[in-house]
Amino acid sequence: MIAQPLSSMKFVKRPKPERDVNVALEVAAELFSSRVGRKLSLPVPEVYLERTEGDDFALLMDLLEERRGRVPNNVRELGASLPFEEWILNVDLKEEHVMLRGDEGMIVDHGHSLSAWKPLYYIMELNSRPVTRFDLWADESSISEGLEILNSVDLREVELELRRAMREVLDAGFCNLFSPEVMEDHIKISTWILKERKFMVPKFYDLGRKYIP
Ligand SMILES: Nc1ncnc2c1ncn2[C@@H]1O[C@H](COP(=O)(O)OP(=O)(O)O)[C@@H](O)[C@H]1O
Ligand SMILES: [Mg+2]
Repeated sequence: MIAQPLSSMKFVKRPKPERDVNVALEVAAELFSSRVGRKLSLPVPEVYLERTEGDDFALLMDLLEERRGRVPNNVRELGASLPFEEWILNVDLKEEHVMLRGDEGMIVDHGHSLSAWKPLYYIMELNSRPVTRFDLWADESSISEGLEILNSVDLREVELELRRAMREVLDAGFCNLFSPEVMEDHIKISTWILKERKFMVPKFYDLGRKYIP
C-alpha cells in the first residue's frame, strides 16, 4: 500500500495502483482484521473504506504515532493479540507495525493476512506453521489469554464478517479482475485458513514448545 498522512486526525492508506486481485484482497483483509480484532477487544485501529477524490477508494483510520523505541503501556493486551495475528495468517507482523495512540500500542497493517498476496501452494505450506516475526511482548500469561480469546471465536460469525468485507471491496469496484467468482474462491480459501488455524494455533504453544517468535 502507498500510505500517507492526510490530516492531523486521520491516516489515509491508498490501495496500490497495480491491477492485481491481491490489491482487492489486501483491502478486504484490512477491513476484516480490523472488524474482527475490535470485536475481540484487541488493539487494532478501526479501518473504513471511503471514496476519495475522483472515483478512488482508500482506507481511513486514526492517525497514530511511530513508537521510536518506546514500550507501549498495554503490552499485556498486545501479547494477547499474538494468537489472533497467527490465526489470521498475518505473515507481515513485525515490530514497526506497532504504533502508538498516546501511550497505547496499536497493531497496524493486516494487508498480508488471510489469502492476500499468497499463491495456494504457499498457503498450504504455511497453514500449519507459526508465521509472525515479532512477539508483541507476549509471555505465557498473555498468550493464554489470547488463546482463550481465539477459543471464543464463532467461525460462522467470522465467515459473515469475511463475506461483508469482500463484498464491500467488490462493490467498490476498483479492480475488474476481482470478480464475484474470484471473491467466492477467496472466501472459501480464507474460511478454510481460519477454520484450520483456529485448531492449529493453540498447538504452537503446547507441550512446553511455547512458540514466541
Ligand atoms: N494509522 C496510521 N497512522 C500513522 N501512520 C501510519 C498509520 N498506518 C501506517 N502508518 C505509516 O505508514 C507506513 C506504511 O503503512 P502500512 O500499513 O504498513 O502499509 P504497507 O501496506 O505499505 O506496508 C507504516 O510503517 C507507518 O509508518
Ligand atoms: Mg507495512
